[in-house]
Amino acid sequence: MNNLEHTLKEASEDFDQCQSVTDLDQAKAKYLGKSGVLTEALKSLGKLSAEERPKVGAEINVVKQGVEEVLEKRRDAILNASQAKQLAEESLDVTLPSRKEDRGSLHPVTQTLHRIESLFHSIGFSVAHGPQIESDFYNFTALNIPESHPARAMHDTFYIDESYVLRTHTSPVQIRHLEKNKPPLKIISPGRVYRVDSDATHSPMFHQVEGLWVDQQVSFADLKGVIEDFLQNFFENKDLKVRFRPSYFPFTEPSAEMDMSWKGGWLEIGGCGMVHPEVFKHVGIDSNQHQGFAFGLGVERLTMLRFGVNDLRHFFNNDLRFLQQFI
Ligand code: PHE
Repeated sequence: MNNLEHTLKEASEDFDQCQSVTDLDQAKAKYLGKSGVLTEALKSLGKLSAEERPKVGAEINVVKQGVEEVLEKRRDAILNASQAKQLAEESLDVTLPSRKEDRGSLHPVTQTLHRIESLFHSIGFSVAHGPQIESDFYNFTALNIPESHPARAMHDTFYIDESYVLRTHTSPVQIRHLEKNKPPLKIISPGRVYRVDSDATHSPMFHQVEGLWVDQQVSFADLKGVIEDFLQNFFENKDLKVRFRPSYFPFTEPSAEMDMSWKGGWLEIGGCGMVHPEVFKHVGIDSNQHQGFAFGLGVERLTMLRFGVNDLRHFFNNDLRFLQQFI
């Protein structure tokens, strides 16, 4: 009996030493395991006489229960301590102000493109697209640009190889669209174009919007009306004036440069004209039956004017201080 009382005290001391559940499980084996002190004691009951057996057996069980109790107490204490430690380590100050999220937004040029698309959509134009790597044929030949035209010279055009270029304008989409569609048709074609040019007002990559309206009777007066109406709506200014200066493009006749009134002067915003009979010939349209106008607008130019940006290069530097002004 003495011996057993000692066992409970010893177990309790052993368990107190343990700092983890693993340690505790090992310590437990010494008392309650297969060949633990108490297990052995119970096994040896068989050697006792029939009178002694129940008494000693009961005593062993009391000690066994005691050991199990201190074991569970110690286990709870270890688990509580480790939980408290974890909570302290992972403490979270919910009163801290949150980190500021940067809000994304569309690039100002993209905003302009969307605005142009929706304004033209409202007067019945749909959107067509063409490839940025364009054949010499669509970019020049089909648009009646002869071999000797300066736009073909290397200083203006990025050549991919002898017969492919990075398109220098969106006008090739006129041809691609006319090849596949019969008039009447009204399209705009926004997209990227490329020229070997770089300064405060020129970038080697920029955006244009092409416009094309072909029907049996579409006149230069329609062209003027569409452009003026578009610009007045785009700039939300009913007093805005548009000026058409005679000019030359191989694929329109007559041709004009479009200027808009701006701060007491005039600013060029694109080119236009009546579709040239040669262009119609390339796509099998009889120019006695149909006529139409085409125009090309500079998208960066419109964006700069609308938002008061004075250097084109801001659009392509990806400086957040600049871009965040257009959220
Ligand atoms: N493609 C011409 C340019 O890039 C602009 C233009 C388009 C002129 C359509 C006339 C008609 O300069």
